[in-house]
Amino acid sequence: MKYIVLFQHLQLKNIGLVLLCSFMFSNLLYSQSTREVINFDHGWLFNRYGLQPDGKRIDEPFGNGSPDSPSPKELAFNDKDWRKLDVPHDWGIEGPFRENLDGYTGKLPWRGIGWYRKRFNIKNIDKDKMFFLDFDGVMANAEVYLNGKKIGERPYGYISFRVNLTPYIRFDSENIIAVRVDTEKLGSRWYPGAGIYRHVRLVKTNKLHIPQWGVFISTPEINSQYATASVMVQLANGKKKTARSSYTIEIFKLDKANIPRERVAVGAKENIKIAANAIDSSLVSLKVEKPQLWDLENTNLYLAKVSVYDRKTLTDVYDVPFGFRTLKFTHNNGFLLNGKRVQLKGVCMHHDLGALGTAINKSAIERQINILKSFGANAIRTSHNPPAPELLELADKMGILILDEVFDCWASGKNENDYAVHYSEWHKKDIEALVCRDRNHPSVIMWSLGNEVEEQYHPEKGVAAYLRDIVRLYDSTRPVTFGASYPSKSAINGTELQVDVHGMNYPSGGYGGPDFYETFLNYPGHEHLSGFASESSSTISSRGVYFPKGYQVTSYDLKAPGWASLADAEFAALDKYPAICGEFVWTGFDYLGEPTPFNSDMSVLLNHAALSEEELAKAKEELKRIEKERPSSRSSYFGIVDLAGFPKDRYYLYKAHWMPDEPMAYILPHWNFPDRIGKITPVFVYSSGDEVELFLNGESLGRKKKEQYQYRFKWENVIYTPGELKAIAYKNGKLWATESVRTTGEPALLQVSAYKDKIKVADNELAFITVSIRDKTGSVVPTANHKIKCKLEGEGKIVATDNGDPTSLISFSATERETFNGFMLVVIKAHQGAKGKLRLIVESENLKSASVDINLL
Ligand code: GAL
Repeated sequence: MKYIVLFQHLQLKNIGLVLLCSFMFSNLLYSQSTREVINFDHGWLFNRYGLQPDGKRIDEPFGNGSPDSPSPKELAFNDKDWRKLDVPHDWGIEGPFRENLDGYTGKLPWRGIGWYRKRFNIKNIDKDKMFFLDFDGVMANAEVYLNGKKIGERPYGYISFRVNLTPYIRFDSENIIAVRVDTEKLGSRWYPGAGIYRHVRLVKTNKLHIPQWGVFISTPEINSQYATASVMVQLANGKKKTARSSYTIEIFKLDKANIPRERVAVGAKENIKIAANAIDSSLVSLKVEKPQLWDLENTNLYLAKVSVYDRKTLTDVYDVPFGFRTLKFTHNNGFLLNGKRVQLKGVCMHHDLGALGTAINKSAIERQINILKSFGANAIRTSHNPPAPELLELADKMGILILDEVFDCWASGKNENDYAVHYSEWHKKDIEALVCRDRNHPSVIMWSLGNEVEEQYHPEKGVAAYLRDIVRLYDSTRPVTFGASYPSKSAINGTELQVDVHGMNYPSGGYGGPDFYETFLNYPGHEHLSGFASESSSTISSRGVYFPKGYQVTSYDLKAPGWASLADAEFAALDKYPAICGEFVWTGFDYLGEPTPFNSDMSVLLNHAALSEEELAKAKEELKRIEKERPSSRSSYFGIVDLAGFPKDRYYLYKAHWMPDEPMAYILPHWNFPDRIGKITPVFVYSSGDEVELFLNGESLGRKKKEQYQYRFKWENVIYTPGELKAIAYKNGKLWATESVRTTGEPALLQVSAYKDKIKVADNELAFITVSIRDKTGSVVPTANHKIKCKLEGEGKIVATDNGDPTSLISFSATERETFNGFMLVVIKAHQGAKGKLRLIVESENLKSASVDINLL
């Protein structure tokens, strides 16, 4: 077959967002259009019913069936007063915060009923095509209507789904899509967001086409000479008669910008007969010579391009990026990527993007990943739900491993109206959707069935094995796991044998212990079993607070709830038992909701269903006490990084341990304590060196060695005197790093620094700008909490501000807020089509103002 491939239109950064390519065939009919994927995010109308932000209710208009009283699902409904917006949209983050809401809600009024409507036209010329709407996620209980007819529903807010518009489209006339979203009946242990919070695409195909996620590429053989790509292709025949079809597969190497370059393999399948309205599956194996493997440093990716023909007419072209890499989870030697041991230095992450709420933005996820990588993290557990697809695209590209988790609970729930309500009807479909959507990503290394599920205590019911087998129907190339709580009861009771790799939550914490891994590894029957800490640490702190008042937690990194442990305990256990694959720290970033220890919600405790009567009674008492106080805390204290993305002290503890070859030393606390003169003020140093000498105002406070299983240098009895603390770190007897912290002068000026000084307008990139308060020498004043006013010049807007204070109830959309211990974040964006630059100006009384320019690309 001779043909020329034209790649001018191929922008793989936007795979699926553009008409992917044009093909010209010398001996085949040219098809005008194969598949078209159209961004459907813009121009929605929205109205909120049910619970309102202030807690009052507005009745939902149901209509009475007559033409004078239509319901919002019908075209005739009058929506002229509705709000115009683009999705992704999260109505919860709009606030305002309400102090009297429970801790788990993030104190944000996300409960309510939202209706979204969007009008669109489709030309009669397309009447032989098929049309689908792909939703990446709608929170929650989505019902989708086209021209008044229900065409789909999906209760689980985290799952991606497709609805078929074809039967009810009115060609050459107006169509209305209406989506009802209901978060009133949604139980969540954290802030879930509300609305169409991920992207939506309109997909136009021919009748003979590849269905959603209908290509699966596995790589059964990989060696230095060649690799095999085994490509499973599904073909859907939407015609009323049998189709005779064939397809070709071409594999291209993708360059760093995701542009296909060299073609490295071709294959084909001929003579496929597909009955009317049926789906056919077939397999083609292709050999790729000298494959370039995907790993964390070299994220080599390939592209499989499948071209489908109806007899001789090209009817569909479908592109799937993938990679070659091997995974092995061993009992004795942890996790092997391409045969080499890689310690899992992972973090658990909830899906919110801090002040942006849950409305997905790729540049915000990219910033999160960059921050995580900057302290050595190499893996993310998508706790406790399917992530946005963008996270996986970025993970493939940026080199981060993904533990892809599907549920927080199974049939036995943790809170009213959580997934347990939908489990029996939806679990199979939801698992299928997650696995089929994500199985081509080389970054995904394991599937997690759930988190701290109650069923873990009943191995005899075999639920884990049953769910594992559902996963294996769609992917048997990756191991299946789940995160088990109370390791001493659930890691040796038989449930662990129902999965491929065992995930233990807090193995070194309250319900495991320093040597729990020994018990796990040596337990009879575990000879084949590989294990890891699916959740670890749960250290809590507020950034920059050392002697807390109110609802703050000290940042000496010495506090963790009863079930948890400090970072150091997990480091020690993993160093002692290198057979274990590594850990996923709870959590990488702070998140909205679950402000333990000031969380009056029961779910955290009920998580640990194996508490004794006595323990539970005590815990309930404590919760009652907290309940009475109604703390203002709105976000968690667990993050290594705060909600705004600013590193807490613990960031450096992880960096020192996870990036041992990077010379660094970090001193805590700051040295601005006018009210502590003469008082004992402990000083810690986090360093990748093995010895540190500390000086206060030039005088040595002693040189300390890191003993085995010790991860921080501590000087517990330092008497505070203003001045300078200096740390000199050594490694193997040689100078390794130096660091100093000084008592600063009074706040004098503002400083701004942009995470990126250029943003791509068409890609909806956001600019993240850090504002800090400095003294006149330019040092950050670590105790400064000054009110800042933000102004933006240019065609754009201030989207959100935050300062990482877990107790702040100032709306995220406020353009004025106080810094929290020296820092504040401003997020800005450009209007669509904007050109030139944006200028952010920040001002504060008695401080020199500052500004920064962001260039628009
Ligand atoms: C775990 C649970 C997480 C979170 C964490 C807080 O038990 O799996 O979702 O609640 O506790 O420490």
